[in-house]
Amino acid sequence: MIEKRSIGASGLLVHPIGLGCMPLSLKGRFPDGYGVSVLCAALDAGMDFLDTADVYCIDHTDVGHNERLIAKALREWKGDSTSIVVATKGGLERPGGAWIANAGPDHLETACEASLKALEVETIALYYLHAPDPGVPLAESVGALARLREKGKIQHIGLSNVSVADIRLASSIVPIVSVQNRCNPFDREAWQQGVISHCEQNGIAFIAYSPVGGGTGKVRSEQHPALCQVGQRYDVTPFQIALAWLLLKASNLIAIPGASRMNSAVDSAAAMNIILSDNDMAELDHAFPST
Ligand SMILES: NC(=O)c1ccc[n+]([C@@H]2O[C@H](COP(=O)([O-])OP(=O)(O)OC[C@H]3O[C@@H](n4cnc5c(N)ncnc54)[C@H](OP(=O)(O)O)[C@@H]3O)[C@@H](O)[C@H]2O)c1
Repeated sequence: MIEKRSIGASGLLVHPIGLGCMPLSLKGRFPDGYGVSVLCAALDAGMDFLDTADVYCIDHTDVGHNERLIAKALREWKGDSTSIVVATKGGLERPGGAWIANAGPDHLETACEASLKALEVETIALYYLHAPDPGVPLAESVGALARLREKGKIQHIGLSNVSVADIRLASSIVPIVSVQNRCNPFDREAWQQGVISHCEQNGIAFIAYSPVGGGTGKVRSEQHPALCQVGQRYDVTPFQIALAWLLLKASNLIAIPGASRMNSAVDSAAAMNIILSDNDMAELDHAFPST
């Protein structure tokens, strides 16, 4: 099994595959009872890092749904819930189901208070700026997170959907422990734009979101000849090969595959056990060049 990885300089150590909880709360979701079962199955399978956001919900009337579901699952789970790291985000809104930016300091403060309540915690282990807001200087949004950290509302700060320049600017204001950007065999901008190497060189964890291609893009992993062929050699799914490949590409990378079904979560967790051979890595690197 691939060893636990550090979330930057936070001192938090987690298994390199966590659960992306978003599909449990979007439109068309399964009933909450099943969602709790998916979360418990993921934790039973060894995932100890849950990724959520206040806006993982149907619309503005439902904000916090995913965080409340996680709080419920952690109450019901038979294991040691204090060993589970939950990361959440603020900086977006969902009016009528749309996704819009609001990373103004006032909104971030209110959103963080609501997340504390929804997650039923006194402090949030890792809180991300969900995305820079074109209408608010990044320094103002990051400054608001720095104040939340000073007040003890959050312990560590992350950024999501950012460039190297954004990370540099934010890091000049407050320590950044993790960066979460889209990254999978088909979306390789995080390498091409130098985000992963910048994080690696600066002791920042890189969290790969949509690691098997995303809600509609997952079919590309399922059907890609290279992922399927290598998967046959290990008798595992192409999704697991996509995840195993990502983990071996960077020592600071943690993948957070999403799941709305129990089988998906358990299958993804098992990818932590796969160490691809050099030949298989070379074959996949050839299929998915990162430069
Ligand atoms: N920061 C951001 O802006 C941002 C944006 C997007 C996502 N995220 C985070 O990243 C997480 C993952 O991204 P994502 O959910 O968009 O895409 P994803 O991880 O690429 O997965 C998409 C879908 O693929 C299926 N899948 C994943 N692993 C599988 C497996 N082993 N076997 C079979 N099916 C599998 C799941 O289907 P089923 O639903 O059928 O189980 C899942 O819903 C999200 O849950 C969220 O926490 C963050």
